[in-house]
Amino acid sequence: MADARFLYEDHELTFPVVEGTESDAAVDISALRGKTGLVTLDRGFANTAEGQSAITYINGEEGILRYRGYPIEQLAEKSSFLEVAYLLQYGELPTKAELDEYEESITRHTLLREDVKHLFEAFPHTAHPMQILASATSALATYYPDALDPMDRESVDLGSRRLIAKTPTMVAWSYKYRVHQPYVYPDNNLDYASNFLRMMFSVPAEEYLADRVIAQALNMLLILHADHGQNCSSSAVRLVGSGHANLFSSIAAGIHALSGPLHGGANQAVLEMLHQIVKSGDDLDTVIKRAKDKEDPFRLMGFGHRVYKNFDPRARIIKKAAEEVLTSLGVDDPLLDLAMQLEEVALSDDYFVERKLYPNVDFYSGIIYRAMGFPTDMFTVLFALGRLPGWIAQWRELLGDPAAKIFRPRQLYSGADTRDYVAIDDR
Ligand code: ACO
Repeated sequence: MADARFLYEDHELTFPVVEGTESDAAVDISALRGKTGLVTLDRGFANTAEGQSAITYINGEEGILRYRGYPIEQLAEKSSFLEVAYLLQYGELPTKAELDEYEESITRHTLLREDVKHLFEAFPHTAHPMQILASATSALATYYPDALDPMDRESVDLGSRRLIAKTPTMVAWSYKYRVHQPYVYPDNNLDYASNFLRMMFSVPAEEYLADRVIAQALNMLLILHADHGQNCSSSAVRLVGSGHANLFSSIAAGIHALSGPLHGGANQAVLEMLHQIVKSGDDLDTVIKRAKDKEDPFRLMGFGHRVYKNFDPRARIIKKAAEEVLTSLGVDDPLLDLAMQLEEVALSDDYFVERKLYPNVDFYSGIIYRAMGFPTDMFTVLFALGRLPGWIAQWRELLGDPAAKIFRPRQLYSGADTRDYVAIDDR
């Protein structure tokens, strides 16, 4: 591919164009500052690739998402979450023997140290589970000094497996603490999703059998969330990892990044928005008018995406699944009808059409989670559980890349010019 040529002042500069697969290409401007003294200004990194990644391919114009080359639609229909976790981390689908070994090792690490219980109990019962999960994930680093060396493949592998195994237990326990119920220990005879559902919803006084429809839907939802390239939380994980912080600390940073309503927190925000619409009695035209009004901070939550300027393929799968799961569970949720009407009204409005604002992954996921029995503030935690293998894969990819550097963006300084210190009495 030809070099890119830029004209700056009176001379022409050339920069190599690096080719990816799938006709992706990037101008390598590594030498820009050295040649010109200039840096680039790119708010929100909308045009910037920090490095190369072989994990996930996204084509936002055509609504394509693939993990390691496999279309998300095929994985959502045919795979299991642990198989996808393996694929993301090791690059290939596992053989039967590899998957058996992987599942067995995840199963063996599901328990938490008993002392970790006290950590949960240090939080108020009202604490948001995302904050508890981030703190507990961070705390794991203190329990596993044998899995902290970011440059040691074996210890990283062990840490990764421990995280994938223990996170469902941490999530479920944060919920049990909140609702003043006894913690439920993992049952290693169950698959990943059923075990998690049991730890969440069973009580010692009664026998519990995870509903098959719910377990399958959860497996599919976790797969759909498993990776999404260099999004806000994955970039946070990579950034922290770039300083060679350990895996647990880096993942805790990702959980914090995901908690915001512009990112993973949007699934909770969608449900709150739908409730609010019902409560206010506003008709949908009023809601849409408010979303378009720049003076009003209200935005249509679950709509719009930095990368998808067509539909979000995950939203399409989830919308269909939401209808199927609700029908199968016999749930008639007026919020699903409201969400579908809202989508229809928005997608026929010029404002949304011109800006290419479509429903994203969060628009319908909350409706399914609600039908499955999850309280609203657990939705973002479920997103974190799903995204975990992606975060780990992104972190491992960066740490294993000999060309990787510590992330250290430049800035365009726009503060005061140099000035002399003024003694406090003279100000
Ligand atoms: N409702 C109303 N207007 C919107 C919305 C929305 N949900 N999203 C974007 N817009 C408008 C913006 O006001 C802007 O309008 P303008 O050009 O007239 O100024 C235009 O569309 C472009 O939007 P930006 O905010 O510049 O787009 P950006 O790529 O920075 O933001 C984001 C993407 C954060 C997802 C945004 O669409 C948004 O806030 N959506 C609602 C929150 C949400 O659903 N987040 C989940 C994203 S998916 C995920 O993280 C898993």
